[in-house]
Amino acid sequence: MNAEMKPAKRQGKCRMTRRDFLLTSGTTTATVMVLVNGGTALAQEIPAVIATYPRKFITKLSDLKVDEPLDFDYPDEGFYAESMIVKLGVEAGGGIGRRRDVIAFNSWCTHQGGPLAGTYKADTKSLGMCPFHLSTFDLTRHGILISGQAYESLPQVLLELAGDDVFAVGIFGLIFGRSKNLLS
Ligand code: FES
Repeated sequence: MNAEMKPAKRQGKCRMTRRDFLLTSGTTTATVMVLVNGGTALAQEIPAVIATYPRKFITKLSDLKVDEPLDFDYPDEGFYAESMIVKLGVEAGGGIGRRRDVIAFNSWCTHQGGPLAGTYKADTKSLGMCPFHLSTFDLTRHGILISGQAYESLPQVLLELAGDDVFAVGIFGLIFGRSKNLLS
């Protein structure tokens, strides 16, 4: 396993907007109506661009043990990129694997950026409580808020399975502290 493929084993802190997610790789076009002299409406195609997320190897599926989270960075090495992947042992929204129980989330609270790394609770399959204002997030339901001060779900890292290899391929939700998920 080369350095790029090696998962980061450190405690961490994570988000792509729904719009960013829908506007995925490449360039596409959108048809819009424009008004010309006299108020005549004409259809015109304009380019619509678009976030391209890296496809990053995270771990082997077979290496994941139930309720033992693994930390990694995604989508880059920048601030608030720390995320966690865990095999819940129960089916979850966005889950991969035979039981659809492997999910990944950014590890920073969406309220004011409290660190959530190390707060995984096996009994409730949740992340939290946030040490700042006690927010807790449900990892079985796309990181929705269970309790606390936050009002946005935890950004979910989108996973892809290729054989036994687990890849991160995108983020659903905006990473705390960023105006966009991709720094470059
Ligand atoms: S920063 Fe996490 S609840 Fe406020």
